[in-house]
Amino acid sequence: MNVLVTGGAGYIASHVIKYILVGKSNNFSQIVVLDNLSTGSKYITDELHKIASENDMKFKFYLGDVSDIDFVESLLDEYQFDVIMHFAASLIVPESVADPLKYYYNNVVNTIRLLDLAIKHKVKYFLFSSTASQYSNENVKYGDKFSEDHPINPVNPYARTKNMCENIIRDCSNAYGIKYVILRYFNVAGADIENRIGQSTPNSTHLMKVAAQTALGIRDKLTIFGTDYPTPDGTCIRDYIHVDDLASAHVCALNYVVKYNSSELFNCGYGKGYSVKQVVDTMKAFTGIDFLVEYGERRAGDPAYLVADSTKLKSLVGWKPKYDDISIICKSAYDWERKLLDLKLGNP
Ligand SMILES: NC(=O)c1ccc[n+]([C@@H]2O[C@H](COP(=O)([O-])OP(=O)(O)OC[C@H]3O[C@@H](n4cnc5c(N)ncnc54)[C@H](O)[C@@H]3O)[C@@H](O)[C@H]2O)c1
Repeated sequence: MNVLVTGGAGYIASHVIKYILVGKSNNFSQIVVLDNLSTGSKYITDELHKIASENDMKFKFYLGDVSDIDFVESLLDEYQFDVIMHFAASLIVPESVADPLKYYYNNVVNTIRLLDLAIKHKVKYFLFSSTASQYSNENVKYGDKFSEDHPINPVNPYARTKNMCENIIRDCSNAYGIKYVILRYFNVAGADIENRIGQSTPNSTHLMKVAAQTALGIRDKLTIFGTDYPTPDGTCIRDYIHVDDLASAHVCALNYVVKYNSSELFNCGYGKGYSVKQVVDTMKAFTGIDFLVEYGERRAGDPAYLVADSTKLKSLVGWKPKYDDISIICKSAYDWERKLLDLKLGNP
C-alpha cells in the first residue's frame, strides 16, 4: 500500500511511521509525509529517513500544507495512495478557545479538503486521529470506563472540531464508499523506546513531558491543577498510553479494516488510570529528583476521570500493548527530554 501521512513530522504520526518502517511489512510500499513543520520537526523526519534506509523501506518527506490543494493533488497523482493517515491538526485546547477559527480552518476545513481529494482520487482508506476528550463527563463516577458508544459532549472548540470531522468522515463514507478508521486517543505519553524520536514541540502541556522537563531543571516547577476532584488523591485521573503502543494500534486497526473492507472506530488506551499525583511521584521516584510541585486551581473543562474501555481494540483487531507500565512511560519521556536537551532542540 502507498500511504500519505499528514502531520508525519509530529509526535504521534512519526511513531506510527517508525513502527511501519521497522516492521518492514510488505503491506506498505511507500510512505509519504506532508507536513508544514508548524509544530513538527525536521530532525524527526531526518531520523525517519535513516530508519527507512536501515530497513530498506521507501520514505519521502514533503514540506507543504494540507490546505494547498494543488500540491496535495500533485502528490495524489504521483503516488496513487491506497491510504491517507490524517494526523495534521492544531491541538492546544486553550488556544482553540482563544482562536477558534484557526481550529475550524486547520482541523475541519482542511479535513474536508483532504477527504474531497481522497474521494476524487479513489483512495480506499482514511485514518483519522481523534480524541477521547469529546466524551461526556456527566454521570461518570470513579472506576467507570468510556467505551466507543459513551455519550459525546465536546466542551471546547478543539474537541468540537474533532467531533465534527468524525461526523463528516462517516457521512462521506456512507455516501461515497471510502472506508475509515477513527481512533480516539486517551492520554498519549512517552517516547520511542529506543530514544530515536519523541515529542519535540516547544511549550507542550503534556503532563509526562512537563514532569520530565521539571526533573531536568528546564522548568522551575510543575503545577497540579485541582486537588479536590472526587478521586482517591483528589487529582485528575487519566489513561496514559505509550506512544509506541498507540503506533501499533494504528497498524492493527488499519490492517483489520483493509482485511474486512469495513469502517471502524476504536478507543486507544490501556483501560487503566493514574492520577496526576501518581505520575508526578513516579517521575520523582525514577529520577530521584524531588522537583518543585505547586498546587493550582482546577482548569475549566478538565474531567475528573477519563479511562478507556479498550475491549474493542484488544478483542477485534488483536492489539497487544507492550509498554503498559507507568514507570516505562516516565523513563522514555525522561530519556527523550534529556536527548532534546543535549541536541538543543525543543526547549520551552
Ligand atoms: N497528543 C495527544 O495526546 C493527542 C490526543 C488526542 C488526539 N490527538 C490528535 O493526534 C494528531 C497528532 O497529534 P500530535 O500530538 O502528534 O501533534 P503534533 O503537533 O506533534 O503533530 C501535528 C503535526 O501536523 C503538522 N501540521 C499541522 N497543521 C498542518 C497543516 N495544515 N498542513 C501540514 N502539516 C500540518 C504539524 O507541523 C505537526 O508535525 C492530531 O490530529 C491530534 O488532534 C493527539
